[in-house]
Amino acid sequence: MSNTIIVGLQWGDEGKGKIVDYLTERSDVVARAQGGSNAGHTVINNGIKYILHLIPSGILWPDKICVIGNGVVIDPIGLLKEMDTLRAQGVSITPQNLLISDNAHLTLPYHRSLDLAREKRRGVNAIGTTGRGIGPTYADKIERQGLRITDLRDTSKLAEEISWRAELHNQELEAAGYEKVNVAEVVELITAAALRLQPHITNTVVYLNHALNNGMKVLFEGAQGSYLDIDHGTYPFVTSSNTTAGGACTGSGVSPRKIERVVGVAKAYTTRVGGGPFITESQEISDLLHGMGREYGATTGRERRCGWLDMVLIHHAVMINGCDEIAITNLDGLDTLSTIRICTAYELDGQVIHHPPATIAEIERCKPVYEEHEGWLQDLSGMTSYDDLPEKAKAYLTRLGELAGAKVGLLGIGPSRDQTLVVE
Ligand code: IMP
Repeated sequence: MSNTIIVGLQWGDEGKGKIVDYLTERSDVVARAQGGSNAGHTVINNGIKYILHLIPSGILWPDKICVIGNGVVIDPIGLLKEMDTLRAQGVSITPQNLLISDNAHLTLPYHRSLDLAREKRRGVNAIGTTGRGIGPTYADKIERQGLRITDLRDTSKLAEEISWRAELHNQELEAAGYEKVNVAEVVELITAAALRLQPHITNTVVYLNHALNNGMKVLFEGAQGSYLDIDHGTYPFVTSSNTTAGGACTGSGVSPRKIERVVGVAKAYTTRVGGGPFITESQEISDLLHGMGREYGATTGRERRCGWLDMVLIHHAVMINGCDEIAITNLDGLDTLSTIRICTAYELDGQVIHHPPATIAEIERCKPVYEEHEGWLQDLSGMTSYDDLPEKAKAYLTRLGELAGAKVGLLGIGPSRDQTLVVE
């Protein structure tokens, strides 16, 4: 196993948690480098369902070290709830196996209120955020007025540090007709959270670099997907961090020269939650998947929008991320289809194009160009090796590799750990 970055190649929810979980076995350390509690990774192990938002899914392995890196935005109250839920499920979380970067920024209750207020004010242009305060936290970071995890070290200063920021944000909340946050209450909550989190706080940049120098293998677990990237996604319908491979380096303090492998994860079809353009969106696929009880958000429970696999997006994302290989998840979601469509190009104003255009208006004018494949009409979920797959499923995967420009190395055929197959 080499130092590996895992990224989503679509709009998030690609099933990265499961692939991360699989690759974790071959790593020593698992690190998150961006995003916050907007992420929702579901891992099913021995029939138990674990939902992770901020904690890397490596925590489910007793001998792995998990790092929440400097690029992550951390809601301390949400993090503690997540820790408590996992502990109640029997997961061991200690200051030795969960390290939190002192430089990571804090999402505070006023960020959540601002997220909701700003979304409401955007009206028809709302982004459809997860409401977890992600945008306002990153905005404060870039505006250089954020509070960081290191500020939790000295609780005697917290009242002062929180108060002026809360009051500043309360002005906006009040002007927008929203309830102001109760400053004293926020201080009390965060002080209590600080005392519980303190043992986990450390300089994770130094830790990760020492670990790498000592030959330990690090897995960087990306959250969200390439098209939610603040720079490369379908702006403004994106999240507020760099979800692509470069974000793993800036968000962890590890040099790109230390990265040996990038694995991109994509579903065998496409989904998206929230607003924004979606060229291959299809009612047929949405009805099919929702009818199977699939494609409801792990964080918000929202019904995901669904459509055919868009290889224009994946090919472009493979380029941006420099993927060595791709993992295709949820292949079993297509088991009942007699014809499977793959979008191979777009038609824009009479021209065939192979990369997503920059503006929402142009994307909205794009029509998908499809090629059709015969479905395998067989239940794949119980298969235990790639060789067992029907020829039509193998042909579909080979074609995906050709169109992506990276070979398919891993395959997901169900939510459990043992439903991940290696493609020889
Ligand atoms: P935010 O990250 O909450 O600001 O939301 C911005 C956009 O990213 C919205 O369309 C969300 O639905 C989407 N988003 C954020 N996190 C995830 C995720 O983990 N999976 C899928 N979509 C996400």
